[in-house]
Amino acid sequence: MPNMDLFSQQWGSYRAVVAHDLMEHQAVATATATALETWLASRPEEAEAAAMVDLGCGDLALLAPLLRRLPLGAYTGLDLTAQVLPLAQQALGEVPYPCRWIEGDLLAWASQAAGNGDGQVDILHSAFAIHHLSDSEKHTLLENLRSRIAPGGLFIWVDVFRDHGESREAYVQRYQQRIAAGWMQLTPQQREHVSQHLKGYDHPAERTAIEAAAEAAGWHWRWAWSGAHRAEAMAVLTPA
Ligand SMILES: C[S@@+](CC[C@H](N)C(=O)[O-])C[C@H]1O[C@@H](n2cnc3c(N)ncnc32)[C@H](O)[C@@H]1O
Repeated sequence: MPNMDLFSQQWGSYRAVVAHDLMEHQAVATATATALETWLASRPEEAEAAAMVDLGCGDLALLAPLLRRLPLGAYTGLDLTAQVLPLAQQALGEVPYPCRWIEGDLLAWASQAAGNGDGQVDILHSAFAIHHLSDSEKHTLLENLRSRIAPGGLFIWVDVFRDHGESREAYVQRYQQRIAAGWMQLTPQQREHVSQHLKGYDHPAERTAIEAAAEAAGWHWRWAWSGAHRAEAMAVLTPA
């Protein structure tokens, strides 16, 4: 099963990054909990329990403890990689609300959902997945998700972002230097995996441009957390 081997190796490198907190996942988890709990506490008591969709859910290693204690009405985990879905389901365990697991592409999910117009979502969440899209795909995603969010809903977008005015080349070089100089908890092979993956597949949005694109698509944008490395950050988007 070469695919499984490749998946295990690549996922193993990502798990090591998370375990050593090299992308500040612990701070991300705290900021995500604050945003979700503040939003849930602000809802009127008579509101139906909120439905949440997680785009690129991964294995839920970090989010599961939070999801277990939130008073959700439903949770959907969607991911392009089929192998992570049983891991996510296992990490979450028993919860008192229905869960769905979808193997699929987040951009396709958003455009289908926007097309048929049914089933608005109260909470959208995506962590470290959208940066794989091109800039024009990100703009389409923002437009389609805007038609999918319920009035008063919440979209939490955690990701890597380029600095104001920074080119992709400069970002990649800067991030590769950060890995080479600082990520000594990883093996040289794991550092190489992450470095090559980022060079080949990462297209982080430039901060100022994506904020403007989101606002043009009808979102209000707030930077809720920014990491120490001018890359990892969390934006909270609400319908404008
Ligand atoms: C770096 S992992 C992040 C996982 C998890 N959200 C977290 O924060 O730990 C990125 C995840 O996004 C998924 N992904 C990447 N592109 C995707 C797409 N276009 N549609 C759905 N999932 C995608 C990958 O399969 C992977 O599980």
